[in-house]
Amino acid sequence: MDYVLIYFSGTGNTKLISEEIQKRLEKKHHNVELISIESLDRIERLNLQKKVIGIGFPVYKFTYPDIMNKLFPLLKAKQEGRQEDSPFFLYCTYTRFDADSLHNFARKMEKLAFRLIVKASFKCPSNGIASMKSAESYEYSSVMFFEDNIADKLDQFADEIANNSAKYQNSDFRLKHTGKIYDSIRLKIVEDIERTKYPRLRINQDLCNICGLCAAHCPETNLVNMGKKICIIDEFACLHCLRCMHHCPKYAISFGELTTGPQRYTIKVRNKLFDKAASGYKEKYWWDFNSIRKKWKQKTIKYWILHRRWRKTAK
Ligand SMILES: Cc1cc2nc3c(=O)[nH]c(=O)nc-3n(C[C@H](O)[C@H](O)[C@H](O)COP(=O)(O)O)c2cc1C
Repeated sequence: MDYVLIYFSGTGNTKLISEEIQKRLEKKHHNVELISIESLDRIERLNLQKKVIGIGFPVYKFTYPDIMNKLFPLLKAKQEGRQEDSPFFLYCTYTRFDADSLHNFARKMEKLAFRLIVKASFKCPSNGIASMKSAESYEYSSVMFFEDNIADKLDQFADEIANNSAKYQNSDFRLKHTGKIYDSIRLKIVEDIERTKYPRLRINQDLCNICGLCAAHCPETNLVNMGKKICIIDEFACLHCLRCMHHCPKYAISFGELTTGPQRYTIKVRNKLFDKAASGYKEKYWWDFNSIRKKWKQKTIKYWILHRRWRKTAK
């Protein structure tokens, strides 16, 4: 079977998970092409005939990142004139709540005559907390891990992809999925909370050495190196993916309270955390995860109430 995995990854977690899925499918002698959504021209040239597509993204603001919307017109064009549904599978990476992100995305795909065959969410370290808090703090250790038994879960996911792709060929098999009734209301509130929480990307011009790394890495080409200064084209088009912040060698980039401290979320840090979880290490925080989620929810709502008024007057 031929597979195409299309993913977006702000800081690399989803890329790593995509590569792990690719490895496992290739081990089963399938062909797998891995494409970042940032290579839109490659996606445009894709021939999806007799291929199964897998789509992966990080959960942003309780749903899928805006950049994923770029995929729909391209896929719509590819589906035109086709008599049959095409199979696809979905996966996401998240830190605390995957919410209805997969369901929201799947619904849009189904409108384009794609049929969901399998989905999975993978709990990963937080790319925000990664750089804000000290490695010794509770906040850091309570979110900076990949879920227990992630290697087994990836094996199982790859098995399901292969089995359900075969099942799909001779039947009208589809994976049923439902969202929660209150989720669309929750999404509206959360959108506002998140808008407050990630105020604006700021570049401290005194610290910036105009190396241009941030501009080179921005997935929306929203940062431009003007020679004397790095300029932000459109503050509101920013995905808040944090990639620029994690690449800035001068720690000149901030998103409200988020600024990188001396410890950075690097490939090395991530791979170490992944290897730890994959080797069977059991996180002592995992069982406590629900209480962490609850505390975080209360803290976020308090933060929102406090900052909301300020934001409205600042507009
Ligand atoms: C703007 C933004 C919003 C996020 N929102 C959520 C969220 O709603 N729920 C969650 O569990 N994780 C959330 N996260 C954490 C990411 O989903 C998580 O760290 C993910 O693995 C990052 O993947 P990446 O490295 O491929 O970008 C958010 C991260 C960012 C940058």
